[in-house]
Amino acid sequence: MITVKSIHEIREILISHRRAGRTFGFVPTMGALHEGHISLIRQASQQSDLVVGSIFVNPRQFNNSQDFDLYPKSEEQDIAMLEQSGCNVLFLPDVTEMYPKRVGLTIQMGSIDQVLEGSHRPGHFSGVALVVIKLLNIIQPDVLWLGQKDLQQVAVVSQIIQELSFPVRLEIGATVREADGLAMSSRNRRFSREDRQLAPALFQEMTKIKDLLHKGQTPLQNLLEQGKANLEVKGFKTEYLTAVHKDTFETVLNVKLIKADPYSYHLCVAAEINGIRLIDNISLIP
Ligand code: PAF
Repeated sequence: MITVKSIHEIREILISHRRAGRTFGFVPTMGALHEGHISLIRQASQQSDLVVGSIFVNPRQFNNSQDFDLYPKSEEQDIAMLEQSGCNVLFLPDVTEMYPKRVGLTIQMGSIDQVLEGSHRPGHFSGVALVVIKLLNIIQPDVLWLGQKDLQQVAVVSQIIQELSFPVRLEIGATVREADGLAMSSRNRRFSREDRQLAPALFQEMTKIKDLLHKGQTPLQNLLEQGKANLEVKGFKTEYLTAVHKDTFETVLNVKLIKADPYSYHLCVAAEINGIRLIDNISLIP
């Protein structure tokens, strides 16, 4: 694996591969890698000739400076993991390389960046959009790989690709979970032992709601309210626990609609335990 820090240099390297007719799969990350990222690298290497990974903790997508400062970093370990899993080129720019000047451009996506993560983390998706557009312009991959855990990010990026006509195919890797159901996340490294024991409750609560929804006796609104109350009792501060359409992120409470097209609907949750914010989602396919 080669590691490249400058935009100019990575463009030069990738042009020569492109001329040789090689296809690229691209896995953008913010480092602190875990099995979720590595599974994307492995899938990318099965489907493309060359896998490009990036590590860049994008300051523009943090609405909270403390969250940015506390974001876990493990560069040496990340590089070793990427190398072992089949990444060929690592793009590792620093902030001045990506943002040499104050950026004036602000990207707004209409309604999708105003709800759930968009409303709880103002400016987050504008920052994600900016860096993803920049990375797509620099790398010009054939396939972009994102994880389903950040479902709203997937919808935002999919909208960007469509509306700006990027010639790239978006592939989504399934959420990778620990044995007890906890979705893998870079932020899990910040847990105390007690937090770690509590954390799988997010997945367990969503799974319970999904089962009850398909049994069809209790209105969805009541199931969601009960789920939130259960999380609060366990010590979570719940920001949202809701059912949405996976592309538009519009809320849905109509169980008939969900049962008619379960592939399109997900339960999404965001909650904090002791200052560590977690998000997760599950599909409503029975
Ligand atoms: O999902 C992430 O790690 C980030 O939001 C991404 C897509 C790398 C953009 O900074």
